[in-house]
Amino acid sequence: MDFSSTLEMPDRDRPIIEDEYIIGLFSPARLVSLARYAGLGPGQRVLDLGCGYGEALLAWAEHFGISGVGADADPAHIEWARNAIANSPYADRVQYICADATQYPFAASCTQLPSCTQLPSCTQLPSCTQLPSCTQLPSCTQLPSFDLASCITATNMFGRADVRMYPSSMFRNAIRHMKKAIRDGGYLLIAEPYYYTADVPQALIDYEGPLNTEADLIRTIRDEGFELVQIAHSDRSDWDRYISSNLYHTIRWLKENPTHPDRQRKLESHRRWQDMYVGYRVEFQGCVAVLMTSV
Ligand SMILES: C[S@@+](CC[C@H](N)C(=O)[O-])C[C@H]1O[C@@H](n2cnc3c(N)ncnc32)[C@H](O)[C@@H]1O
Repeated sequence: MDFSSTLEMPDRDRPIIEDEYIIGLFSPARLVSLARYAGLGPGQRVLDLGCGYGEALLAWAEHFGISGVGADADPAHIEWARNAIANSPYADRVQYICADATQYPFAASCTQLPSCTQLPSCTQLPSCTQLPSCTQLPSCTQLPSFDLASCITATNMFGRADVRMYPSSMFRNAIRHMKKAIRDGGYLLIAEPYYYTADVPQALIDYEGPLNTEADLIRTIRDEGFELVQIAHSDRSDWDRYISSNLYHTIRWLKENPTHPDRQRKLESHRRWQDMYVGYRVEFQGCVAVLMTSV
């Protein structure tokens, strides 16, 4: 299938719908479409921070022939991603690491490093007999850098905790962190939730946290030394797919767990999820994906 001429995803003959593997608002097809503008191709390397089930990296490996590393802190997500890649033709090119991605280059848990072809030129490494705990690695300037680093609706790992800060600093922190991972002239792809206006109801801020406006995001990109290459906004059908996927999972869980002690709490959260969506989120909140590079 020639993906450049259509945005339909090929059927990979999976048992459940593809949408369940992307946790945010952007479908794999939208992410492939955006990443094309980073000039990805065979031999290039992508780092996906907060990779979830690894779907974006899988799609990029499939469509551009890249190799890459996905990192996620959730062991269940990584286990799923590893199974998916093992059953694909890209197992030798894509690796998933269970790690706190804010601690990049997470050398301690990177099992690919010893066989990385760029490492032999690092003068610190040959004598290092303790690679997994090697304290020199984080400062090793010859660690292979990436052509694209991505963070798809996962920047809250970089500052969500500070809910008093408005607008939020997590987007800025993500850029500062991610740019350490890319080569000169490399690209960053970030999908980020935002508020349509600075004037949003407090009930939404209490539920969702303090998000930037789109103008804040664009300003931050420039402040951090990047220029925008591509931009894509979520639409109502993206919202519907995202919200519905969560609804579907909760309903399935409720059906399968008729006597579970968490049942009432789950049901209340399920209803609140719907109320926040129709009452606030769809009116005040969107998600934007931005591809940026330095010029
Ligand atoms: C909304 S999900 C998005 C996942 C994926 N990018 C996608 O679009 O499907 C956010 C992900 O960030 C991961 N995460 C949160 N904090 C993290 C951290 N400190 N390091 C690595 N991953 C983290 C979560 O486990 C979750 O999989």
